[in-house]
Amino acid sequence: MIKTGRVLKRKSFLKRRVKELEAVLRKCRKDISAQVWGLRKTNEGIRFLYKDLEKKTEKLLELDRLKSQFVFNVSHDLRTPISIIKGNIFMVLDGAAGAVNSGQKEFLNGAMKSTDHLARMIDDILDFQKSGAKDWKLKTGENDLNELAREVCVPASVAAKKKGLKFSLKLGRAPLKARFDKEQISHVLANLLSNAVKFTAKGGISVRAAGEGKHVHISVSDTGCGVKKEDIPRLFQPFERIGERKKEGTGLGLAISRTIVEKHRGSIWAESGLGKGSVFYFTVPRNGLSYGI
Ligand SMILES: Nc1ncnc2c1ncn2[C@@H]1O[C@H](COP(=O)(O)OP(=O)(O)OP(=O)(O)O)[C@@H](O)[C@H]1O
Ligand SMILES: [Mg+2]
Repeated sequence: MIKTGRVLKRKSFLKRRVKELEAVLRKCRKDISAQVWGLRKTNEGIRFLYKDLEKKTEKLLELDRLKSQFVFNVSHDLRTPISIIKGNIFMVLDGAAGAVNSGQKEFLNGAMKSTDHLARMIDDILDFQKSGAKDWKLKTGENDLNELAREVCVPASVAAKKKGLKFSLKLGRAPLKARFDKEQISHVLANLLSNAVKFTAKGGISVRAAGEGKHVHISVSDTGCGVKKEDIPRLFQPFERIGERKKEGTGLGLAISRTIVEKHRGSIWAESGLGKGSVFYFTVPRNGLSYGI
């Protein structure tokens, strides 16, 4: 009897427990379906945002393409009238329209200088546009970095000497063979040299080229004004001009140089201190493995 009573008690306890668990289960099911519904809604929202983002990205890319095309066309079209202006100033200076007195010569020389500056700025903008283009490809071939350095340093050493600066070029005897785009790498070195001459008032400029492991490299050091250590990362950003703005320039030379060197899978960097001069370095791999070739 006692046994039957205990069994009945246990049975009714279990029944109650089952009912309780069923209620919990029902609640869980309800919660889960509410969460599934919520997730579905969130997913729909994400899908909508993603599609919207895709559309906006496409629009932005299209605008960027149009902007580049516009800048390219305008810069390109400006070249022709500028060369005509230069030609005409040259003719007047040369006496083609009659004798030119010294006062007139001075004004015409000023106009010629500014026209040259404008032409250089346009070339910089065109180069910058070109180097940023996705389909821009390097024309790599087997080249000698020493030969390139010798060629590019000729006009730079003349410009340095004109300013009363010393100029030295230190190269090894053996050729420094590597695969790179000669025209583009010449452009990088010419940019670094033009900066070194521009930002150095006294002392000198020294250029070194050497090879190390899988890379060849060039350094250009100067005893010029230098920049603050914290400004070094800004040097390679487009349109950045640090310190005094009296020197002419667009602030694109180093940005273009960085794009060219990185396209070669090389590196470019600077060490500098305010009033302590600067050293700019760049490397390119000997085997010329570059992006987009
Ligand atoms: N050798 C250097 N010494 C001191 N400052 C430098 C040197 N090279 C570059 N800079 C600083 O970095 C800035 C950016 O240089 P970058 O060559 O990009 O432009 P830029 O010379 O002003 O104009 P651009 O090269 O387009 O004619 C310069 O304006 C200058 O402030
Ligand atoms: Mg420059």
